Amino acid sequence: MKTSTFAKDIDRNISENSSVYRRLQINYQRNRKQDCTELIDAAARAFCYQDCQDKYWQSEEFSLLYGTALWESATTSQKLILNHLYWVAYYCQIISAEIATIYFNQTSAAGLYAEEDFRLVCDMLDLESSQERAHIHAFKTIAEQVEKALFGKRIFTYPMRSPFAETMVFADTNPFKSRWKQLQLQSFGMLSAGNSFLACQYFTVRGIRTLNGKLVQHKLSNFYHSSDEKKTIPIPSQISYYHFLDESFHFNSSTIISHDVINCLKPPTKFETWVANLGIKGCQQDHYHFSAAINGIFWYDPALYRCVYEILRSPIFSCSNSDAKQMMNRCFTEESEGLHRSFQTHFEAVESYKAYLEPLTYIWKSNREMSTMSSNSIEKYLKRQKKALSQFMRINDFDNY
Ligand SMILES: [Fe+2]
Ligand SMILES: [Fe+2]
Repeated sequence: MKTSTFAKDIDRNISENSSVYRRLQINYQRNRKQDCTELIDAAARAFCYQDCQDKYWQSEEFSLLYGTALWESATTSQKLILNHLYWVAYYCQIISAEIATIYFNQTSAAGLYAEEDFRLVCDMLDLESSQERAHIHAFKTIAEQVEKALFGKRIFTYPMRSPFAETMVFADTNPFKSRWKQLQLQSFGMLSAGNSFLACQYFTVRGIRTLNGKLVQHKLSNFYHSSDEKKTIPIPSQISYYHFLDESFHFNSSTIISHDVINCLKPPTKFETWVANLGIKGCQQDHYHFSAAINGIFWYDPALYRCVYEILRSPIFSCSNSDAKQMMNRCFTEESEGLHRSFQTHFEAVESYKAYLEPLTYIWKSNREMSTMSSNSIEKYLKRQKKALSQFMRINDFDNY
């Protein structure tokens, strides 16, 4: 791309850095060429739960409450449903994250378009946002159909939501914290739309969040990728694979923007450094917990108790009130293989986030070391659950079930 002759007052210009520009171009071109939108839309249209309810949608270890007392005592057909419910719950979280991504892709593109030569970055983000809309549509279509068939009501799904809602669907929150989070997200949106550094820095947070997704989604996508029966494999497994392909490009673009494009901008001011680090700190707080119910999503299990209770009382498990409570006690307050696996994923996430932040110079020590996130432990988890579960049992009236 030809450098504007009027760009001389800009210290560093993206098109003058040909290797960065070229990498952006290649990533965008390859994503356009491989774009899975049509395949994902067609798969979502063709989905019928009855057609694939007798098969696993990803490997057994990615099942709801895998490796807990519930899993150990479940029948073959109950295990299949727990496998499907993992898919539903997992992608319900991805829907929420991607709704926020669409909004911040747009505010960041607005912030970056104020620089010379940033059309390529903005076009790339436009493509990614339109892909996210197809992903959300497919996840929502399947998740809602499954819950309707199994329970006749919502368990993990929710109606379309605003990008300012809590990104973590099951978070350690209350109305005051949620409102505060909403104000923070709205402020960051406004700031990033008018500030190139913060717009660019959003991709550090997006990169970390996508890295978390990649850890698990790579394994989910492998179920299809390594299958010899690709034509007959369940549609949700196909969607996991296509989604992973699209997201690989999104992760590349996050990395190029947050690691390299950022060097084409002026160094951050103290205020910009502060806001950027607050964003990463927020990400650490969001990813502080790990869940015995779902490996790879950092949900706060006490926020999930009601859903798990409903699943246990549904005709799928047909537990009595006291059996359901006893099973929840065993699943959430005792050490299990499932809990250790989830903790291991959390540990891998911490290590990969540290490596991702390593080349960036403006990061605070507490973020560089992921000190908030890595301060959680199995011991703390169990202590928290014992307290929260007995409180849940005490204050909830279970007669309506
Ligand atoms: Fe996506
Ligand atoms: Fe994405």
